Amino acid sequence: MASRKVLITGGAGFIGSHVVRLFVNKYPTYTIVNLDKLTYAGNLENLRDIEKKPNYKFEKGDILEVDFLRDLFKKYDFDGVIHLAAESHVDRSLHNPTEFAMTNIIGTLNLLIAANAAWTGNFEGKKFYHVSTDEVYGSADNGEFFTETTKIDPRSPYSASKASSDHFVLAFNNSYHFPSVLSRCSNNYGPYHFPEKLIPLIINNILNNKPLPVYGKGENVRDWLFVEDHARAIDTVFHQGKHGEVYNIGGNNEWKNIDIVRLICHLMDKKLGRPEGTSEKLITFVKDRPGHDLRYAIDPSKLMAETGWRPETTFEVGIEKTIDWFLTNQEWLKHVTSGEYLKYYSNMYQGR
Ligand code: NAD
Ligand code: TYD
Repeated sequence: MASRKVLITGGAGFIGSHVVRLFVNKYPTYTIVNLDKLTYAGNLENLRDIEKKPNYKFEKGDILEVDFLRDLFKKYDFDGVIHLAAESHVDRSLHNPTEFAMTNIIGTLNLLIAANAAWTGNFEGKKFYHVSTDEVYGSADNGEFFTETTKIDPRSPYSASKASSDHFVLAFNNSYHFPSVLSRCSNNYGPYHFPEKLIPLIINNILNNKPLPVYGKGENVRDWLFVEDHARAIDTVFHQGKHGEVYNIGGNNEWKNIDIVRLICHLMDKKLGRPEGTSEKLITFVKDRPGHDLRYAIDPSKLMAETGWRPETTFEVGIEKTIDWFLTNQEWLKHVTSGEYLKYYSNMYQGR
């Protein structure tokens, strides 16, 4: 197996931690450097099982600091980048759009500039992979599916910032022949999902007997993919994706929010030994999210046809695995909701 030096940004977050774990375990001859600022969403506990592996390194840093990024490229001589660091929650973007523009647009641009400067003149064997979202396509209200040529039509500050970063990634390919590729994935779920997003929030609230907030009438539809299937797709695109191309990733698994919430209530009542219907009583319909996209639906056939990638985990299996993980990792839930992980970080990396 060839040796490579791969920078993964946002590797302490939800999806990033699964990508780091997959690469560290699957590619022992690669050096995997995880660059993360450790915002509220980044948690080194997500990587405890691999943090001592010899091919894994952690660098705390901010993608808004371009000089730091340039130095990092000098230090490690990366030949690959998988960029996941971002502000990722739509509701937060409604309250602080500037933070989203800074991290998601300027942060991505900084990384492109640092990689382009480090690689200029020799793009052979290099790849910059930007991980994006189906939300850049807007809302598929009329039953259509998003393909890679669907018009970009972002409707929240989060998706607008991701769409802008996508344009920079493609513009660098066009303008400088920069070796970049990007993918757009549907909603992920699974272990280590931060409990501000729908599925882990519902699980956490059921555990704590708190109201289950459903926006509007719960009629909005999302297309859910188990996070390990996304990580495998990222591995596939990183190794096989063609420069200048966009790849959609999705599970062909559409659910109305209210149906997912009811399913989780049903499964958790069983697992917690509570009478059927106990958790459903907690469902509370609340004021809708402003500008709430009605439906996301991805057509992943290009990636499937070009590479043979397929989702391996059905929703029935994935949601059980996810609930079981949260039930056996309630300490993790407590830590990420209390800020305890910051103490873990300073104990673990003190003086490094
Ligand atoms: P997340 O919010 O769980 O993690 C983001 C990570 O980025 C955190 O570890 C955080 O500390 C880090 N980060 C934030 N700002 C940073 C900065 N300035 N410098 C360095 N690190 C910084 O996000 P996620 O859900 O794992 O999503 C990862 C990527 O995948 C994002 O780019 C997101 O847009 C994309 N995506 C997410 C989903 C989903 O369902 N969660 C779906 C499709 C695409
Ligand atoms: P979310 O997990 O925030 O992902 P996204 O908005 O990026 O798709 O939300 C998924 C869906 O669940 C979305 O339609 C909004 C809805 N939702 C609720 O109904 N209640 C909640 O408390 C949250 C966080 C989301």
